[in-house]
Amino acid sequence: MTEIDQLERSITEAIAAASDEQAIEAVRVAALGKKGTISERLKTLGAMSPEERQSMGPVINGLKNRVTDALAARKAELKDAAIAVRLAAEKVDVTLPVRQSPAERGRIHPISQVIDEIAAIFGDLGFSIAEGPDVETDYYNFTALNFPEGHPAREMHDTFFFNPDANGDRKVLRTHTSPVQIRTMETQKPPIRIVIPGKTYRQDSDATHSPMFHQVEGLVIDKTANVANMKWVLEEFCKAFFEVPSVKMRFRPSFFPFTEPSLEVDIQCDRSRPGEVRFGEGSDWMEILGCGMVHPNVLRAGGLDPDEYQGFAWGMGIDRIAMLKYGMPDLRAFFDADVRWLAHYGFRPLDMPTLFGGLSN
Ligand code: DAH
Repeated sequence: MTEIDQLERSITEAIAAASDEQAIEAVRVAALGKKGTISERLKTLGAMSPEERQSMGPVINGLKNRVTDALAARKAELKDAAIAVRLAAEKVDVTLPVRQSPAERGRIHPISQVIDEIAAIFGDLGFSIAEGPDVETDYYNFTALNFPEGHPAREMHDTFFFNPDANGDRKVLRTHTSPVQIRTMETQKPPIRIVIPGKTYRQDSDATHSPMFHQVEGLVIDKTANVANMKWVLEEFCKAFFEVPSVKMRFRPSFFPFTEPSLEVDIQCDRSRPGEVRFGEGSDWMEILGCGMVHPNVLRAGGLDPDEYQGFAWGMGIDRIAMLKYGMPDLRAFFDADVRWLAHYGFRPLDMPTLFGGLSN
């Protein structure tokens, strides 16, 4: 074997052994670089005799050309292999589910969820939403709602009073959402069909009472609205809210200064299974709301003529119906801001409750 043959074999082996583009480049430099083994051989041609050059020229140039071709071929091979490795490593399975974004991981508080559900149900029945201030005057919270001065019903509300102002008037934290009835009548002509969700405050605190809680009020005023209409609206609401095909409701006579007649509503339920309440079946009753025909004095306070207009109203505890629907036993946990509780009882932010898409799923 000639020396050139040996050189070719060793370069060929080095090319075959090169496992990446960096290694093949090192082989190229070692053979064809300025001081490479083949380049050094090419330089020797100049010093040869013409006869020698004639025989060695093609040998060395032939070697150079074969090595050049082999290097290019191996380089292409390694490049393809590198791409194949990257493709395998960086493969994306586009059929996998989308990773939850941080916004998706947050949770909607059950109170907000239930308010959205209430809005969806009453929105579908043609109601709009109304709101009013949490800090109210005694006039809107009591007087305009037909609570006479010194009437014992005022004490029953366990009101939070602010310090008196310069005129001796004391603002209150509203004890119910009913003042928004008056504020709405003052600014809106009948027919009025509104629901009023919001925060309410009373000095009361235990497992089922919180000093800050939530109510939703309803008000319908037109020329003919009557008790039968009211019963239908409340029944439709209860069926839709509790997501049951039928509910039995019991209307009991009651007293509220702002309605006449006044009624309290119980719904039939089954409490035989511990820790669970089912609606639309069973032999128990549970009180869920107060309602009645709007008192003529309340219509007058709202600037409406009771000989022309009439209507009905109701008020309901949001926290209470949320606890009933979603089986949350302790109201205090609602306001603890404990993310573990929220992760368990909260709702996915993009699942807006609608009647066609489902309220709670
Ligand atoms: N405001 C009452 C309360 O806080 C609830 C209520 C009862 C509201 C009867 C009404 C109603 O509109 O007609 O206990």
